[in-house]
Amino acid sequence: MINTMLNNTPNNTFCSPNNTEWQELISHFAQQSLHFLQNIEHFPVANLTPHLPETALPEQGLGSEVTAKLVESELIPQMSGSRGPRYWGFVTGGATPVATYADWLVAMLDQNVSKGGDSIATQVEQQAIKWLVALFDLPDSFTGLCTTGATASNFLAAVTARQYAGEQQQIDIAKQGMKHLDVEIFSACPHASMIKTLGLAGFGQDNVRYIKTLPDSEAMNPKDLERQLNNSQARSKIVISSAATVTGTSFDDLQTIAGLCQAHAAWLHVDAAFGIFARLIPAKKHLSDGLELADSITLDGHKWLNVPYDCGFFFTRHQRLLVESCHVAAPYLVQSTTTPDFMSLGIENSRRFRALPVWMTIKAYGQAGIRFWVEKNCRQAAILADYLDASNHWQLVHPCALNVVLFRPDEKHLASVSCSEILHQINRRGKVFFSPGQWQGQHIIRAALSNWQTEDADIAIAIQELNTVALQNT
Ligand SMILES: Cc1ncc(COP(=O)(O)O)c(C=O)c1O
Repeated sequence: MINTMLNNTPNNTFCSPNNTEWQELISHFAQQSLHFLQNIEHFPVANLTPHLPETALPEQGLGSEVTAKLVESELIPQMSGSRGPRYWGFVTGGATPVATYADWLVAMLDQNVSKGGDSIATQVEQQAIKWLVALFDLPDSFTGLCTTGATASNFLAAVTARQYAGEQQQIDIAKQGMKHLDVEIFSACPHASMIKTLGLAGFGQDNVRYIKTLPDSEAMNPKDLERQLNNSQARSKIVISSAATVTGTSFDDLQTIAGLCQAHAAWLHVDAAFGIFARLIPAKKHLSDGLELADSITLDGHKWLNVPYDCGFFFTRHQRLLVESCHVAAPYLVQSTTTPDFMSLGIENSRRFRALPVWMTIKAYGQAGIRFWVEKNCRQAAILADYLDASNHWQLVHPCALNVVLFRPDEKHLASVSCSEILHQINRRGKVFFSPGQWQGQHIIRAALSNWQTEDADIAIAIQELNTVALQNT
C-alpha cells in the first residue's frame, strides 16, 4: 500500500538522470501535441455534445503515466478544434506556434510574477507592456499590466475610476468604501463584462445612464452624452466608451467624447478589447482617434493577438490611482523596487508569467507579422460579407466595418426556419462555428474573424456550408 502511494506521488529527484517521470511526460506531451495539431481538421470546430462520466473522488492516485493516457483516450477526443481556422464565435484567436511554445515554457518555468527581485520575469512583463503601448501608437504616459482577459481589465478600470471619483470628493475609496460616493456612469453599448464589473466594483449593474446611439450604429451619440452630462447633478462622472462594440464593431467618437469628459472632469474608460487592433491598419486607424486621450483602456491578448487563454491588458495614465486601489500591504511582501510591484497593480498577488507569450509573439512576428494577420482577417470578413450581401438565402444586416460579419436567414427565401435553428444546424455540422447575437431587436448570426490561421480557403468552406444548409431548408 505504501509502495503504491509512493509510486503514485511525484518523483522528487527532480530532473536527475534517475527521474524518468519528467522524461516520459515530456516525450508523451510532445507526441500528444503533434498528434492534436496534425489532426485538428478532424475535430469538430466546436464539440456540442461532450460527456464526462461521473466518477468518485479518487483516494489513491493512478500515477502520471496512466493519468496522461486517460487524458489521451477520454478527454482529448472530446475537445474541439476551436484553435483552428474556422471557429468564428465570440471574438476568438488561436494561439500561434510561438505563443503556444511560450505558454508551454510558462508552465515549465513556473515563475511567480508578483514582485520583482527574484527573476527577470517582471522585466519581461514591463517590456511587453511598453511594446504594446508603442504597437498601438499610444503615448508612453500609459502604463499597465497583463490581466486574465478583458473582463478583468474592465474591473480594474471600474476600481481605478472609482478611486478617481473618490479623490474628487476627498474620499479614499480603497480604504473608506463607497458609502458616501456621489457618482454617475454614462455609456451607450457597454460590453456585458463591463456591466458585470460595475456590479463587482460596487457601483451596481443597474446604475448606468444609457446614452442614445447614432442611427444604425452602436456608437454613442455625443450630443446626447453632452446633454446628459450637463443635466447630471452628480459630483463625479465616469464615461464608458467602446472602440468596437462586440456586435456592430461600432467605434465611439473618442475625440469628441474625450473633450466632453475633460469639460466635466469625468473619467473616460475605453473598452477596446479587439477594436484597438484597427490601429495597426492605416486605412482603419482613424476609427479610434482620441483613444490616446482616455484615462484607461481595456484590451485583450487572447483575441487578436493570438496568444493562449488567459491574457488581457489594462492600460492607464493614472498609475497612482491604480496602485491606491490594488496596493497590497504586508511586511513579508515588502516592495522590491521603486516601480510598483505587479501584485499592487492588479487583482492577484501571485501571478502567472502570461507576459512571456506576449513578449515572444512580438519578438518572433514583429509589428509586421501581427499587422499581416489583422489585415488578412479584415479582408476575409469583407469577402464573407460580400457573399452574404449577394446571396438570396442570407441577409447581411450591417456593413462589415472590421472583422465581424452580421447576418440572418433571408425572410423570403428561408422563411421556414428560425435564425437560432439554422445557426444550430450550421454549428452541428462541425466545419464552421458562429455565435448568436442581436441587432436592433432581431436575432442574428455573428462571424468574428480573429484567428491568424484563417485562410481564404476557409472562407470558401464556410460559404459552401452556408449554401448547403440554406438548400436543406428551402
Ligand atoms: C469589447 C469586449 N469587451 C470585453 C470582452 C470580454 O473579454 P474576455 O472574455 O477576455 O473577458 C469582450 C469579449 O468578447 C469584448 O468583445
